[in-house]
Amino acid sequence: MATGGAPRRKAIAVLLSAAAALVFIWAAVSLLPAPQYVLWSSFSSGSGSRGNGPANNGGIDPAQIFLHIPSTDHLRHNLQYYASGTHVAGINTSQALYTKEYFEKQGIDSKIVEYYPWMNYPIDQKVVLFNETTYEIFYKAGLKEDVIPGDDASEDPNNLPAFHGLSANGNVTGKLVYANYGALDDFEALADAGISVKDKIVLVRYGGFLRGLKVKAAAMYGARGVLIYSDPADDGYVKGKVYPDGPWRPESSFQRGSVALIQEYPGDPLTPGYPATKNAPHINPKDAKNINRIPSLPLSYRDAQPLLQALQGYGKNASDINPSWVGGLKSKGVEYWTGPSALDVNLLNKVEYKMTPIQNVIARIKGWEDPERAVIIGNHRDAWCAGASDPSSGSAILLELARAFGELKKLGWRPRRSIILASWDAEEYGLIGSTEWVEENIDWLRANAVGYVNVDAAVGGSTFAAHASPVFKDLLYKVTKQVPYPDSNKTLYDVWLRESLASSSAAPLLAKEHSKDSAVANSVHSPLPQDMQSSGYSSKTPVIPPLGAGSDFTAFMAHAGVSSLHLGFDGDEGAYHSNYDSFARMTAFIDPEMKLHRVVAQVWGLLAIRLADDAVVDFNVVSYARELKHYINELKKHISLQLKKSEKYTTPSSADSMEAIAVKNLRHLRAAQRQLLVNAHLLEHDKRRLRSIYGEDCQMSSRHRRAICLKLRESINDRVSQLERHFIDPEGIPGREWYKHVLVSPGRWMGYGFQLFPAIAEAAEDHDWKKLRQHEKHTAGLIHEAAWFLRDV
Ligand SMILES: *[C@@H]1O[C@H](CO)[C@@H](O)[C@H](O)[C@H]1NC(C)=O
Ligand SMILES: *[C@@H]1O[C@H](CO)[C@@H](O)[C@H](O)[C@H]1NC(C)=O
Ligand SMILES: *[C@@H]1O[C@H](CO)[C@@H](O)[C@H](O)[C@H]1NC(C)=O
Ligand SMILES: *[C@@H]1O[C@H](CO)[C@@H](O)[C@H](O)[C@H]1NC(C)=O
Ligand SMILES: *[C@@H]1O[C@H](CO)[C@@H](O)[C@H](O)[C@H]1NC(C)=O
Repeated sequence: MATGGAPRRKAIAVLLSAAAALVFIWAAVSLLPAPQYVLWSSFSSGSGSRGNGPANNGGIDPAQIFLHIPSTDHLRHNLQYYASGTHVAGINTSQALYTKEYFEKQGIDSKIVEYYPWMNYPIDQKVVLFNETTYEIFYKAGLKEDVIPGDDASEDPNNLPAFHGLSANGNVTGKLVYANYGALDDFEALADAGISVKDKIVLVRYGGFLRGLKVKAAAMYGARGVLIYSDPADDGYVKGKVYPDGPWRPESSFQRGSVALIQEYPGDPLTPGYPATKNAPHINPKDAKNINRIPSLPLSYRDAQPLLQALQGYGKNASDINPSWVGGLKSKGVEYWTGPSALDVNLLNKVEYKMTPIQNVIARIKGWEDPERAVIIGNHRDAWCAGASDPSSGSAILLELARAFGELKKLGWRPRRSIILASWDAEEYGLIGSTEWVEENIDWLRANAVGYVNVDAAVGGSTFAAHASPVFKDLLYKVTKQVPYPDSNKTLYDVWLRESLASSSAAPLLAKEHSKDSAVANSVHSPLPQDMQSSGYSSKTPVIPPLGAGSDFTAFMAHAGVSSLHLGFDGDEGAYHSNYDSFARMTAFIDPEMKLHRVVAQVWGLLAIRLADDAVVDFNVVSYARELKHYINELKKHISLQLKKSEKYTTPSSADSMEAIAVKNLRHLRAAQRQLLVNAHLLEHDKRRLRSIYGEDCQMSSRHRRAICLKLRESINDRVSQLERHFIDPEGIPGREWYKHVLVSPGRWMGYGFQLFPAIAEAAEDHDWKKLRQHEKHTAGLIHEAAWFLRDV
């Protein structure tokens, strides 16, 4: 596998021992006193009354009362508001103001935080099929989605044409080649068949992995431009009735989206690693590693059909390369051929790049006991179109949570720790609003964040799914057991468990990439675990896979080391990023009575209340240590696979074989995992000690004993909520140093999808066994540090 990062990695290998030393320094630094009130300097800051007891807590059980507050009427009203107009990042400030004012009406301090990222907007887009000698035009793509009578969103004059966020400007012409999903494997298969994509326009279909990587792979093979279409087999008529008769994608519909390379780094392309404030210095756009250099456009299957037909009879019959290359237009008599075509294709993508102000809305309910410590809940607000599901379902719920918390406040309740509500902007372009905010507040977050809970497309279908850091597992199970599932006598947990067990035996959830791009669960180029069942995931609890990089949790988890959780109802993706992701479609096919919206509100709000208000933060570090064992088993499988692949090309010397055996055993990681587990149990023991000797509330008359109790409790809370920070390697993952979490980061060739132990796994993919051992030792060192941190009282 090509990496492009070899020389740099060598340098990093040399630096590893220095890095290990740095880790010690960094760990020491991270224990220094926290920066205070960085975020809230603009608010009145009456000091907290640490340990003064819950006198000002209203004396109520907030969770029980909260569960009854979210109302489907309010949710419907909120959704109708957000989905009533196109709100692409940077062009709808009225929704930011509305959100801020709504929070304030509930009595919650709120402010707009602006950043100035570099983003693009469409000016002129064309796809033309023509004869290069006569210039006779055979076909000009429409690049517009049809108006659907009765669905106002489809006739919004502000709707964008076919366009990719952060795409390259370009006017390119060449013969056409079809390359299936545009995975590296697909381009390799074409090369093996003697078909070059050099100087060609490549036609690929959506699915499997992040769209920006399709463009990157095509560029690596020399293509001039890329057209990405939605094949009906993936989310169109092959799946079922199309909109407006059903939820699936109709013939004129295309999937907008960003082609940013977020596996390099998310956020503003020109301020990597630091906030895009008004006067921030910018790197040269030429040096921005997270954007593609060749133009691309999305297409509907109606627009793709004449292009596929122009390939017919040229190159290889695609089914001879692999039958899986044949898509759903087959039923319309289209044969899939590779080309190159005889006719030429002109692809024009004229876009305007500019620094554009974006608005995060940040609100805070101040904690009474420990106001600096905070749980953050967030969801993005910007959408490619009306975005009823993505993300307005989440935005509607965020407002309803604000109202519910406002109601609790009226009853006198306040959480122990602060709750921050965030409505992010410009997620769609590349997680920009959340990334810039995390970059700006990173020191404060590292010192004070308890956890982050993300919701994006809260209701996209009817299958509940969550991805998370393993510390969240037990808490999420407990909370979902408290939430009733609509029209049944079951809890959300019951339904989730049933679906999770059913789907994990058929297609393991872990192998289903976490992504809004997973219209095709079929993992085209996947180093993902093949079967978590066989490696101990056959639990009696619902599967909660790790986080990749699909939404605003990314900077929290992978950059800052704040334990994160992402949840929502997934499903039919037939309107993803199209004009038809509308209020009309939502209420016709997805959640007519807004009951699933209410379920998400209940889960999300309960999580926030528990994390902010429990005397002892209910994170389970033993779960983390146990899960790590599964991660290591998965890594071992991945390495074995790579070893087999490498043996195909080289006969190993006996020294290499010894190396291989050593590599496979992952001795250092396993020892570190065992240590983490032992110390996690000791921490659980501390929790029990707190409960049995003092009680979690530390309510006792002796001031001395009370002080001891509070100290022990604070230590426990710090240890469970900061464990994740210790998996952050300040050096970063080789080749994409913005990503710093050594246990899980987005995959190099998946984008949204996660990769366990990225540095180690990628050394294996590069067949660099020596580097693999170095990374193994280094990672094990960090895990030992984490274990040591859990014990520190
Ligand atoms: C911004 O959003 C609001 C509410 O959804 C909508 O009424 C308005 O038309 C939108 N503005 C633009 C410029 O799209
Ligand atoms: C794009 O390129 C074509 C052919 O090279 C040329 O005819 C056309 O004018 C160009 N269009 C724009 C908008 O630059
Ligand atoms: C191309 O492959 C398809 C599917 O296997 C087959 O139906 C078709 O006849 C083939 N076309 C030709 C010209 O070989
Ligand atoms: C383009 O037009 C020329 C001149 O009429 C013709 O000879 C050639 O076959 C055409 N090419 C294609 C691919 O149709
Ligand atoms: C729920 O339980 C009640 C009482 O046992 C029963 O009457 C009702 O039909 C049940 N509802 C559903 C949807 O199963």
